[in-house]
Amino acid sequence: MSMSASTPAAAPSLPAGSLETAPGPGLKLHELLTPMDPASPFFLYLLERQFPANEQVWCSEILRLLQKRSQGDEADNHLFVAYDPDRGPQGAGSTEGIEPVAMSWLEIYPDPNIEAAALWYLAVAPGAEGKFGYGTILMAELVNRAFKEGCRLMTIEVERADITASHVADVAERQQRLSQIEKRNRFYVNRFGAKHLTGVRYVQEISGKNPVEMALLILLDTKRPSLSPEEVLTRCQALFGEEALQSVGPIGLSSELPRH
Ligand SMILES: CC(C)(COP(=O)(O)OP(=O)(O)OC[C@H]1O[C@@H](n2cnc3c(N)ncnc32)[C@H](O)[C@@H]1OP(=O)(O)O)[C@@H](O)C(=O)NCCC(=O)NCCS
Repeated sequence: MSMSASTPAAAPSLPAGSLETAPGPGLKLHELLTPMDPASPFFLYLLERQFPANEQVWCSEILRLLQKRSQGDEADNHLFVAYDPDRGPQGAGSTEGIEPVAMSWLEIYPDPNIEAAALWYLAVAPGAEGKFGYGTILMAELVNRAFKEGCRLMTIEVERADITASHVADVAERQQRLSQIEKRNRFYVNRFGAKHLTGVRYVQEISGKNPVEMALLILLDTKRPSLSPEEVLTRCQALFGEEALQSVGPIGLSSELPRH
């Protein structure tokens, strides 16, 4: 596998043996457990590079979270960096000096009233989007892990096209953002069978940033007894809070791409 992603100038090198699990052919997954991890800067780089500023959690929050992880707390928060072992200065199969290609942040809520995973972030390196299947491989692994841990659903926040259309003044930037939204929705809905939770108003609040209305996609574990849209809403409200997620109409789970 080869790729031409641009990554930060100093791509981190991991010590041999630190690549923990193989999510699929061509990718290795590494979990960050301390802010001092050589891959932490790459995680932050993709957060800053691949998400709009108002959707980015503060880097200081990430470092604080990783500090807590290093002390044995926050065990349900999983920050991952994925590597392509076929790419790097030491050649195929090397575990040293290889370049990271994707990141994700998955939080598990084991509370029996929730039993859900929140996919807070998922991104591949700029230039690698849509080329190597990295996002698909990583997402499949995250879904697999979440459902194995007992989650009945995964929540995915996605940008709303109508809000972007009305807020982004620059025409070229607006077109580019709308095209990204369309592709991203196809990724989750068509590739993974995520459903759009309709009849709700969801507001993402990151402290110190302007709140932003988003759409919520839901991926259900189809091997478990099915949940009604109302049950999904109740679990999601327990996860996000009833203020952030309000019912504003008939609740549904739609296989259509989100359109507002
Ligand atoms: C969304 C994302 C993780 C998908 O990973 P990927 O490696 O690019 O996707 P894959 O190669 O595995 O699959 C390709 C599919 O991804 C979707 N896709 C999403 N964003 C895309 C992009 N910028 N370029 C190309 N395809 C993209 C398309 O649906 C495409 O399917 P298609 O070929 O049928 O159109 C990745 O494109 C990305 O990091 N985008 C920027 C950050 C982002 O939007 N993250 C999700 C936030 S909710």
